[in-house]
Amino acid sequence: MKRKSGFLTTLAAGTAAATIVAANAIADGVPYRDVADMLYRVMSADREVYTRMVVQRLTVDHPVITVSEHFQDDLALPLPSQMFRFGAETVADGTGDFSYSLLSLHPINKKNGPGTGLEKEGLEYVADHPGRNFYGEEELGGEDYFAAVYPDFAVAQACVMCHNNHPDSPRTDFQVGDVMGGIVVRIPMD
Ligand code: HEC
Repeated sequence: MKRKSGFLTTLAAGTAAATIVAANAIADGVPYRDVADMLYRVMSADREVYTRMVVQRLTVDHPVITVSEHFQDDLALPLPSQMFRFGAETVADGTGDFSYSLLSLHPINKKNGPGTGLEKEGLEYVADHPGRNFYGEEELGGEDYFAAVYPDFAVAQACVMCHNNHPDSPRTDFQVGDVMGGIVVRIPMD
């Protein structure tokens, strides 16, 4: 128990450190694309490590606990997408320098579908060109944004099993290694 909470604290500390580094990098004139790429590396590493070292290991390989979207009531582990969103919400509370989200063209939660033209184009691009990233700019509510869309891969069997079997999933043929969606990093330009 101790080890697990220490591990989750480390993940949270990683998010806070990445936020400070990114804010400084933008202030120092580092290109938006490079800042977004660095942020993505931290996010996807945290996401993969949580899925493999916690969810896959403790719910599939050695089933000692369950993982559930109702994790509070069920006393279960939060879903990888929930962990990701909690990180994004923590960042949004602390800074307006950038924001990020996890989206898909085949979302279980309809709120995770593309919300803008660029998000749709980027999700289609990363799905059609596995391993490539999408970069663009768009204006939303009178503000110009740089946005990057990165592929979100099925890095563990747990990703595929859960999505393919979920009653709300519009797609049921995901395989390990597939692009399941995209991470969108958005930076306001000034
Ligand atoms: C135990 C079940 C479970 C596991 C394991 C799981 N997911 Fe999900 N995933 C969900 C559910 C449920 C949602 C929607 C919940 C939400 O965000 O509100 C979701 C959301 C997502 C989304 C956003 C689009 C959508 O479907 O709503 C992506 C992309 C995604 N997951 C990819 C992955 C990847 C990649 C992995 C492995 C690294 C993974 N998931 C592991 C259940 C799971």
